Amino acid sequence: MNAYAQGHAASQSALLQVRELDLEYRTAQSVVRATHQVSFEVDQGDRFVLLGPSGCGKSSLLKAVAGFLPPQGGSIQLQGQPVTGPGPDRIVVFQEFDQLPPWKTVLHNVMFPLLASRTLGKAQARERALEYLGKVGLARFADAFPHQLSGGMKARVAIARALAMQPKILLMDEPFAALDALTRRKMQEELLALWEEVKFTLLFVTHSIEEALVVGSRILLLSPHPGRVRAEVHSHHYGLHSLGSEALQASTRHIHRLLFDESPAEALDADRAFADVRISY
Ligand SMILES: Nc1ncnc2c1ncn2[C@@H]1O[C@H](COP(=O)(O)OP(=O)(O)OP(=O)(O)O)[C@@H](O)[C@H]1O
Ligand SMILES: [Mg+2]
Repeated sequence: MNAYAQGHAASQSALLQVRELDLEYRTAQSVVRATHQVSFEVDQGDRFVLLGPSGCGKSSLLKAVAGFLPPQGGSIQLQGQPVTGPGPDRIVVFQEFDQLPPWKTVLHNVMFPLLASRTLGKAQARERALEYLGKVGLARFADAFPHQLSGGMKARVAIARALAMQPKILLMDEPFAALDALTRRKMQEELLALWEEVKFTLLFVTHSIEEALVVGSRILLLSPHPGRVRAEVHSHHYGLHSLGSEALQASTRHIHRLLFDESPAEALDADRAFADVRISY
């Protein structure tokens, strides 16, 4: 049994278990390794963040959990069942809000996955969609079209559409990266307020250390390409109230060192499993 498994022997109850995941992209000419032996576990109600530099495999990990990218090695289990393809229990919100079909109203955008997956009939889907549009403050815009909305409003529709499916886990890939700084801050605030209300389980990708600390309850730090686990840190005690605080700045510097510092004193052995290097602030 390896160190990872030993460290998590008692965590059979994790909602999502990712074990020693190798992800690759193969073309006729080449093989690109995106992640190497990445392991982590997400518990019910976690706001679990994947943090690392561009190209370290964050989106690939999310795609694999969503079931779009089959593992080359290792395993992914949701409630003990292997993930073998996409399913309505894992919904992804992407960075581009133009993922909303422009010819459908806001209401029909939110209803669409509920109907397409046959989760609900038309009347119930409408009711559920309106309920979640209400939660993100957009009930009044149900009949608007996406082009009539601001970037932040499109982000809220995408979140309402995903949460209306009541997935076991919500997957978000840099969902606020395309927004201006103020709107991004507002969306982080709204996401946290929604989480307080709905208590969904979140797997959130970002390359912003500050966003990871504010949004996440736990953060997995990944090395540069190909992504390996560097450490896992706990950040549940941070929130928007921590912005500008000395503690948050110190944690930001600490995480930066863990992510990027290759000096012998600071660098962590990438081959050690994260259970060994778990750090609590
Ligand atoms: N479709 C693809 N075909 C070939 N290689 C790919 C493909 N998608 C991603 N890669 C490669 O896999 C590696 C990981 O990519 P990935 O998109 O997962 O990184 P990321 O951490 O999400 O980066 P970013 O922060 O820039 O979004 C990169 O080296 C990338 O070039
Ligand atoms: Mg990405």
